[in-house]
Amino acid sequence: MNRQLTVMPEQLIERVLSMELVRVTERAAVASARWRGRGNEKAADQAAVDAMRRELNRLPIDGTVVIGEGERDEAPMLFIGERVGNQAGPKVDIAVDPLEGTTLCAKDIPGSIAVMAMAEAGTLLAAPDVYMHKIAIGPGYPTGIVDLDATPADNINALAKAKGVKPSEITALILDRPRHQDLIAAVRATGAGVRLITDGDVAGVIFTTMPAETGIDIYLGIGAAPEGVLAAGALRCVGGQMQGRLILDTEERRTRAFAMGVKDPNKKYDMKELASGDVVVAATGVTDGALLSGVKFRGNVIETETVVYRSVTGTVRRIRGEHRELSKFSLD
Ligand code: FBP
Repeated sequence: MNRQLTVMPEQLIERVLSMELVRVTERAAVASARWRGRGNEKAADQAAVDAMRRELNRLPIDGTVVIGEGERDEAPMLFIGERVGNQAGPKVDIAVDPLEGTTLCAKDIPGSIAVMAMAEAGTLLAAPDVYMHKIAIGPGYPTGIVDLDATPADNINALAKAKGVKPSEITALILDRPRHQDLIAAVRATGAGVRLITDGDVAGVIFTTMPAETGIDIYLGIGAAPEGVLAAGALRCVGGQMQGRLILDTEERRTRAFAMGVKDPNKKYDMKELASGDVVVAATGVTDGALLSGVKFRGNVIETETVVYRSVTGTVRRIRGEHRELSKFSLD
């Protein structure tokens, strides 16, 4: 049988580029993994940023960083608005978190990842580096069964009903922060369990899409807004639900947000507003975690594990890389 691959040029670009993103997050993960357990968050982050930027600039794209390391003045590299790629390819939005969970990496504890998203130009929310109220569940539930503005009890009860279980069989994932004291108490009052994480809520949101493996049904609480956009991108690919609202509680934050194009400071964004176009998300483990294994340095071989999500097809690929010392990894 003669099976020909018939794809439009723009699809081909997207298919090929989705594999290119693997190289980008692999490089960032390996560079920061060399700093695991050194207690130096800044150095670990900088190593990831440098490696990610170098790789991004090799890609055949005309990219603009919409979620990056900060605004131009305070972040010399991968700042919001920075052009990346060789400018010879399609116009795309780029969202990066070269090292998500810097503290996890510095302490060599589970859950740090290198993560990025690439999407059609103008389709990722350019979120300022502020906090965001978030709620997320995995695929397979009727639209709108949970809501950012509903009480924790209503959300847990609705989710339990839709899942066909008792609230006591639901587990919520929440960042372990004093600000979440009331939220945690309200969730526990329903009978549901709460798993607390110290950092890393991009993976935390993604956990809701694989409840059989992670045991997590719902993500609730306040985390960083840039991480919210990255998580929404991944969730779009596998069909979960997510809502987020920027916390613009000072004049300075509102001014920054308005400058980045936010019109309504109280807007509740749903997943498709956080990431509205076709998107590819890649993440490579830095330290071991429930989502991904961390980088392993074994003699002259470096092993990585990466997951890539594509919204066009809903494909999720897990890629194990073995990189020989001869490759450029040894130079990082
Ligand atoms: P960093 O990698 O920038 O340290 O972020 C880790 C993280 O845990 C995010 O996953 C989360 O969204 C955010 O920090 C929460 O912020 P805070 O630590 O201020 O509560």
